[in-house]
Amino acid sequence: MKTYSIALLPGDGIGKPVTEAAWDVLQATAKASGFTLEGTTFPWSCDFYKQTGAMMPANGIETLRRFDAILLGAVGWPAEVPDSVSLHGLLLPIRKAFAQYANIRPHRLLPGASGPLKSDNFDILCIRENTEGEYSGAGGRIHQGTADEVAIETAIFTRKGVERILRFGFEQARARRGKLASVTKSNAQKYTMVFWDEMTRSLAAEYRDVEVTSYHIDAMAARIVMAPETLDVVVASNLFGDILTDLGAAIQGGLGFAASANINPDRTAPSMFEPVHGSAPDIAYLGIANPIAAIWSGAMMLDHLGERAAAARVMAAIEATTKAGIGTIPGRHTTETIAKAVLERLL
Ligand code: IPM
Ligand code: MN
Repeated sequence: MKTYSIALLPGDGIGKPVTEAAWDVLQATAKASGFTLEGTTFPWSCDFYKQTGAMMPANGIETLRRFDAILLGAVGWPAEVPDSVSLHGLLLPIRKAFAQYANIRPHRLLPGASGPLKSDNFDILCIRENTEGEYSGAGGRIHQGTADEVAIETAIFTRKGVERILRFGFEQARARRGKLASVTKSNAQKYTMVFWDEMTRSLAAEYRDVEVTSYHIDAMAARIVMAPETLDVVVASNLFGDILTDLGAAIQGGLGFAASANINPDRTAPSMFEPVHGSAPDIAYLGIANPIAAIWSGAMMLDHLGERAAAARVMAAIEATTKAGIGTIPGRHTTETIAKAVLERLL
C-alpha cells in the first residue's frame, strides 16, 4: 500500500483543533481510498518558543525535509510572542527554505454558503508569489528609539522569482478558463512593478492561448468586489497576494472557508498546506473554529500528492456538508460537529 509521510504542525490557537479535524477526515479518506497517511506531529509554536527560545529547533527545516508534505494549522500568539518573531521563526522560513514559491488560494462559494456579494458565480484562483518580494526580510533599523531613527525594508524581485511565478500562473490559466490577471502597482512603483509588468508581457508571447490582462492592485481590489465573475487566475506579488486573498476569503463568506497550498512546483522539497485564517486568539478556546478551510487545504494536499480521486472525495464531502447548512454560519456549529458532518458524508 502506498504510504505518505506527513508532518503535522498544528501551531497555535485554532490551528490545533482545525488540524486535528482535517487529519481525521484525511485519515478516513485514505483508508477508503487504499493508501496510508503516516503523521508525525511537531509541537512547534509560540508555546514551544516560550519553553525553548525558538519557534522550531535549529534542525527544524532539515527535519521537515524528509516528509512528503506538511499540514499546518496556524502560527502566532501575539499576546505572548510578537508576530514578527513567531512568523519569521516558523512559517516564513519554511516557505522560503523549501522554495514553496507558489501560494495557491481558491476563492469560490461553497454550496449553502453566502458571501456579502450579489454575485455568486465567481471562481477565482489566486496565485501569490511566496518566497521574495515585499517579504524578502531585507532591511534594518538604525538609531532606534532616537529622533534620527531610520527603518528600511527592501522588496526584492528577482528575474528567476518573477518568471517562475508568472509561468506558474500562465500554466494554471491554461488548465482552467484561459484567463490570467497579473497584479502590480507599476504606476507608482517604477522599478520592481514595471519589471513584473515587462516579464508578464514577454511571457505572454509564449502563452498566446492565454488572455492576459495587467491590473493595478487598487483596481483589482474593486474588481474582486464589483465583478469577480470576470476573473479566472490572478497572479500577484507576496504582499499584494496576501491582501487580495483575505478579500477573496471575505467574498467566500469568511476566513473559515479559505484554503491554501504553499507549493514547490519542482518537487525538490515538501509543499505545505494551511488554512488562510490565523490562530484567531479571540475564539481559540470556544470550540467553534470552522475546520472547513483546513479540510479543504488537506484536499489540496491529497491532490498534490497525486491522490486526485481522494481529493475529490474530500471536496464532495465538504460540499455536501455546507449544502446541508452545516458550517456555513460562523459560530452556529462547533468544530467537532462540522468535522463529524464531513466525515459522515465521505463516500
Ligand atoms: C497568510 C498570513 C501570513 C502571510 C502571515 C501570518 C505572516 O497572513 O498566510 O496569508 O502574510 O503570509
Ligand atoms: Mn494573510
